[in-house]
Amino acid sequence: MAFGFGAPGLELLLDEPGISATVQRLADELSERHEDGVVLVAVLRGSVPFLADLARAMSIRSVVDFVALTSYTPGAGRVRILMDVTTDLTDRDVVLVEEIVDTGLTSAFLLSELGRRDVRSLSICTLINRPARRVAPVKLDHVGLEIPDRYVIGYGLDHQGRYRNLRVLATADTDVLAKDPDAYVEALYGA
Ligand code: IMP
Repeated sequence: MAFGFGAPGLELLLDEPGISATVQRLADELSERHEDGVVLVAVLRGSVPFLADLARAMSIRSVVDFVALTSYTPGAGRVRILMDVTTDLTDRDVVLVEEIVDTGLTSAFLLSELGRRDVRSLSICTLINRPARRVAPVKLDHVGLEIPDRYVIGYGLDHQGRYRNLRVLATADTDVLAKDPDAYVEALYGA
């Protein structure tokens, strides 16, 4: 489904109906698996649009909570929790909600952190799986879309804070963005 936006290296990955259908499928999987309800733990900030749509598409009760982490940069040491959940996770079915699993380091870290809290179950639901650069092997329980090694923007995914509020998912050229982070602003926002 390659659809260009008239800017070099920018292509549509998933349009709004495609996103809705994918989110609904994941919501149905979770609703079927967790009749007693779930605690959705989302990783700030990229997963917010996905979380909001996922929670509303589910037919079961859900509590929503958030974690914020220091960003992982090679050489900077391990990831740390900047903001923790306030929900008591004891004996709850907890679902980690991520917009994309790339190296897997974020998921692996959170699985080990949250797994120590006497949860009843702990699973991962990611909108996008990009296995090409996986460093930490993680079991992904619910996957919306598996993609090749392309950089993604939109629907929560950003590049240096830009493009998060796009209603679609697009793949972008990292060389173009490295030269000018605003390179796709005109094509996507018309300004
Ligand atoms: P990890 O490498 O699996 O730990 O993913 C770390 C985080 O990097 C993700 O939660 C995203 O916020 C961000 N990230 C990874 N790939 C992309 C991308 O293609 N576009 C925008 N952000 C990304």
